[in-house]
Amino acid sequence: MSSSILKKKLETSSNYSVIDIFEKAARKAGKILISDFGKIENFQIQSKEIGDFVTTVDIKVEKILLDALQQFYPNASYITEESDEIKGDKETIVIDPIDGTSNFIHGIPLIGIVIGRVYEGEITDGVIYNPILNEFYWATKGRGAWCNNKKIKVSNRKKIENCLIGNSVPHANRRYQNYLDEIDNIAKKCSGLRSTGAAAIDLAFVASGKTDAFWQRNLKLWDISAGILLVKEAGGKITQPNGMQWKINNQDILASNNLIHQQILDELKIK
Ligand code: IPD
Ligand code: CA
Ligand code: CA
Repeated sequence: MSSSILKKKLETSSNYSVIDIFEKAARKAGKILISDFGKIENFQIQSKEIGDFVTTVDIKVEKILLDALQQFYPNASYITEESDEIKGDKETIVIDPIDGTSNFIHGIPLIGIVIGRVYEGEITDGVIYNPILNEFYWATKGRGAWCNNKKIKVSNRKKIENCLIGNSVPHANRRYQNYLDEIDNIAKKCSGLRSTGAAAIDLAFVASGKTDAFWQRNLKLWDISAGILLVKEAGGKITQPNGMQWKINNQDILASNNLIHQQILDELKIK
């Protein structure tokens, strides 16, 4: 659908929500990911630093998203991974065109187009769209968390020993003091660690009860905006890994099903 038709269609109904607009933009951009997925010959790759890549697909997807969203939110501020910040009004739209770029390059289907809306420091709406697996996750504050028209909930496991815990082993200069101790402490207690290579998908896994918790440091708002709201709306809990309240500019998070939150916090305390 061309963007002018899309705009016209959306303008004709007052029933369209922020999520409807985000969904149309994400599905349009998703077509590029579908057509280039697994075809490394179709795109160019640049390395920003060790293990941090950008492809021509990231750039194309971001442009499609920005063009589509700016038609509906011309005055908003935009924070996107691959372009400079656009300063506008208090309404901020946060975009990660591909979360899981390394997965995309390697043909691993764990990727997400991520769009979040932040208003006065609070995440109000978010979508994570994986066009390869056809999974569209979305959440709006107060309206629950959803995947493809099905309401999702965090797991109800109460004991860390029965739980799968998400994390991403930090590489290159993302390593930090004590990361091996943290992993060791949690690994000793839980039934397994999981890492998807896309923080948005890690959070979607917690929100949909596939994993029971996830912690990671040094993340950017575009990685986690939608996922944080998804976990909260699915009945989960978000804090910093030291137990303090998570605020919009915090880069370290612990997300859980709530029931095992304290157990994970106890293991993350490095003596
Ligand atoms: C990365 C992924 C990864 C996380 C990195 C992020 P990108 O985002 O979310 O899981 O460990 O910290 O930078 O580069 O694929 O958009
Ligand atoms: Ca990302
Ligand atoms: Ca990205």
